[in-house]
Amino acid sequence: MDFEKLDGRGVLVTGGADGIGLALGRAARARGARVFLTDIAAEKLARSASDLGAASAPCDVTDADALARVVDHAWDEIGPIDLLCANAGVVTQGSLLEAPRAELDWILDVNVWGILNTCRPWVARVRGEGRTGHVLMTGSETSLSYPGFTRGMPIHAYVMSKHCVLAMADGLRAELEPAGIGVSVLCPGPVNTGLGRSSSASRPGRLGTAPPPVDPAIDPVVARAMGSLARSPDEVAACALEGLRRGLFVIPTHPHIRDDVAERFREIERGLDALPDA
Ligand SMILES: NC(=O)c1ccc[n+]([C@@H]2O[C@H](COP(=O)([O-])OP(=O)(O)OC[C@H]3O[C@@H](n4cnc5c(N)ncnc54)[C@H](O)[C@@H]3O)[C@@H](O)[C@H]2O)c1
Repeated sequence: MDFEKLDGRGVLVTGGADGIGLALGRAARARGARVFLTDIAAEKLARSASDLGAASAPCDVTDADALARVVDHAWDEIGPIDLLCANAGVVTQGSLLEAPRAELDWILDVNVWGILNTCRPWVARVRGEGRTGHVLMTGSETSLSYPGFTRGMPIHAYVMSKHCVLAMADGLRAELEPAGIGVSVLCPGPVNTGLGRSSSASRPGRLGTAPPPVDPAIDPVVARAMGSLARSPDEVAACALEGLRRGLFVIPTHPHIRDDVAERFREIERGLDALPDA
């Protein structure tokens, strides 16, 4: 798909009421796209969509049937969806060993199944209408490595889910390439959004209260990650569209990610160097 211009292209964004998703919608709209936003936060979604001049409908990405209806509704309302931004996500903090199973299921339901639930009905429609298209899924820098700050801010379940997003993108790329459907993974570092707050708001009642977040003020590594490194959602959306224009599979947004990725590769190389026939 040619991303030089988005004039007249159809773009659907999940998690589009705020943050990176809304910024993706805004950037696409500014480039002439027809935009449809969906999100679990119905009131915020209605306000954001109206401000943007976009169409919208609320939906929980963990509800595959509802999402299939929204994809069809979006397609019928704004026309063919060429770019699917599977962006909705949640974060939780706390020990991986002590986290209740239901807590881990929720993170995986939203961050992993949510993307697959979004892709399935869209791919069926794209194929059914003999079209091509592109999926941009929002992973994270933690899809690519295990950054130092995650030791101070235990978001291990989140990192686990975001690693899974990269593997899922690889799998879908292999499956969808023959159909002319491209796949990219947006891998942002820290972004100034209300992800913690929105995650608490969308947290299912059955899970009880969220584990308390780690206070960045008490951990200098976390403070650095959350402070000076943080970018705005609009900067991240601009990176995303530029990455799509360049035909990238992995779309990072922060240069510091290079160091964390290099450390991961050094660890892999140390393992390979230790092989008897190395
Ligand atoms: N903020 C960061 O530092 C950062 C860094 C890397 C990746 N990300 C990823 O970016 C994506 C967007 O997050 P953001 O930072 O813009 O935060 P955000 O809170 O602004 O946006 C997330 C949106 O997802 C929605 N959402 C949550 N659960 C949902 C569900 N079950 N169904 C539908 N919508 C749901 C929320 O209501 C919210 O509007 C997420 O996937 C997140 O993991 C964020």
